[in-house]
Amino acid sequence: MKTHRVLVTGGNGFLGQNVCDQLRIQPWVQEVLAPRSSVCDLRDAQQVAALFRTTQPDVVIHLAATVGGIGANQQHPALFFRENMLMGMNTMHEAYANGIKKFVCIGTICAYPKHTPVPFREEELWNGYPEETNAPYGIAKKALLTMAQAYRQEYGWNAIYLLPVNLYGPGDNFDLETSHVIPALIRKFVEAKERGDASVTLWGDGSATREFLYVGDAASAIVRATERYDGGDPVNIGTGREITIQDLAALIASAAGFAGEIVWDSRKPNGQPRRCVDTKRATEAFGFTATTQLEAGIRTTVDWFQEQKGPLREVHFSKR
Ligand SMILES: NC(=O)c1ccc[n+]([C@@H]2O[C@H](COP(=O)([O-])OP(=O)(O)OC[C@H]3O[C@@H](n4cnc5c(N)ncnc54)[C@H](OP(=O)(O)O)[C@@H]3O)[C@@H](O)[C@H]2O)c1
Repeated sequence: MKTHRVLVTGGNGFLGQNVCDQLRIQPWVQEVLAPRSSVCDLRDAQQVAALFRTTQPDVVIHLAATVGGIGANQQHPALFFRENMLMGMNTMHEAYANGIKKFVCIGTICAYPKHTPVPFREEELWNGYPEETNAPYGIAKKALLTMAQAYRQEYGWNAIYLLPVNLYGPGDNFDLETSHVIPALIRKFVEAKERGDASVTLWGDGSATREFLYVGDAASAIVRATERYDGGDPVNIGTGREITIQDLAALIASAAGFAGEIVWDSRKPNGQPRRCVDTKRATEAFGFTATTQLEAGIRTTVDWFQEQKGPLREVHFSKR
C-alpha cells in the first residue's frame, strides 16, 4: 500500500484506541483521523457528509457503534438496531460517494444464528436467526455486510467485512449496567474480594460457552486486513478457543484472588448457547493468528483494573 490518511470512526473507543495506536506505527499510514461523536454524530447523514468533505481520508475503518452486554441489548433493542444501522449506512455511503479507496467494516459474532454448528464458519452466517437477546444489534451489523457486498457488486467498490468474537482487555467498559461478560466478572470479583464478601452472584447457569479475543490482537487483525485483504467474503476474527462461562468465572476469580462461593442466577439469560469461530480464513487471507493466551490477557486486564484510581468510565444509553 502507498501511504494513506486513515479515518477511524469510534477511534476513541475501547477497540478504536488500540487500532489507532497500531495504525500510527505502520509505514503505509501517513495520518490517523479519529473524530469524536461530539464532533461528528454519525447518525446524522449531513454531519457525515461534512466530515468526509473536510477530512478527505482515503481509507476508512468503521468501528463506531452502540454496543453493550446482554442486559443493555435487552433493555435497548430499538436503540441498538437504529443507531448501528444509521451509523453504518451513513458512513459507508458517504465513504463510497467521496471516492474512498477502501472501507473496512467491523461486524460482530452476535450476527451468527443462535444454533450455528461449532466452529462457526463464515458460510453459516445466514442459516438462521441470531440469539434473541442480541438479534437487533447482530442483524443491524449483519445488514452492513449485505450493503458492503452490494456496493462491491454494483460499483466495484472495495469494502471488506470482519467479524470479531467477544473482546476484552485494558480500557474496556467496566460499567456493570452495560458491560460485556469479562469486565463485569472482573469488577464483581475484585470488588467482592476488597469487601470480603462470601459469595458472588453471576448471570445464567454458567453452561454457555464463549470465545474471547484480547483487544490488542483484534486491533492487529484489523490493521493487517486493512493492509492485505481485498475480498468480498466476511472473515471471522478470533482465537478458535471455546470456554464455558463457568470455567471463565473460575479463571477470573482466581486472578482476582477471590476464594468465596460463585452463585449462578439461572433466572437471568445465558445468551447464545455456544460461540467459537473457525479462524482459517483470517489466517489464509491475511496471515492473522491471535497470540495472547486467555490466562495472560485476563491477568493483564485484572491488573489494569486494579490499578485504576479515579472513577471508571460510565456508559449509559439514555433516551436519545
Ligand atoms: N467489544 C466487543 O466485545 C466487540 C466484539 C465484536 C465486535 N465489536 C465491534 O467493535 C467496534 C468497537 O466496539 P467497542 O467495544 O470498542 O465499543 P466502544 O468502546 O463503545 O466504542 C464505540 C465508539 O463508537 C463511537 N460512537 C458511538 N456512537 C456514535 C455516534 N453517534 N457518532 C459517532 N461515533 C459514535 C464512540 O465515540 P465517542 O467515544 O467519541 O463517543 C465510541 O468511541 C464496534 O463496531 C463493535 O460492534 C466489539
